[in-house]
Amino acid sequence: MYSPTVLAHLDQPRNAGAMEDAVSRGEATNPVCGDLLHLYLKIDAGRIVAASFQAQGCPPTIAAASVLTGMIEGLTPAQARNLAPADVTRALEYLPRNKEHCCVLAIDALRSALAAIPIEMV
Ligand code: FES
Repeated sequence: MYSPTVLAHLDQPRNAGAMEDAVSRGEATNPVCGDLLHLYLKIDAGRIVAASFQAQGCPPTIAAASVLTGMIEGLTPAQARNLAPADVTRALEYLPRNKEHCCVLAIDALRSALAAIPIEMV
């Protein structure tokens, strides 16, 4: 049902947990399934230098958040803003069709966190 990459992220989620010294925090929820995702960002010299997440949701939501935190490290906020749900799905190899919206949740949480970056750090 799940790809080897999804299973690897479920087995060992990357960057799980709150980030005490985050400069911005975003969240997104899906009102239909109830999944909730918090995303934390640390910015230095105009780049995302660290990201972490807290998720209350299904396994693909955890895998999507886990892979996304790795994808955005080193990107500028503008580059991260260009990521789309399909990029996250591709990074996970594939997802069952009825779980592809978990990647939308991940991108929604990212965009929420990007919008919360203090203006002097963008
Ligand atoms: Fe809805 Fe995962 S099942 S976001």
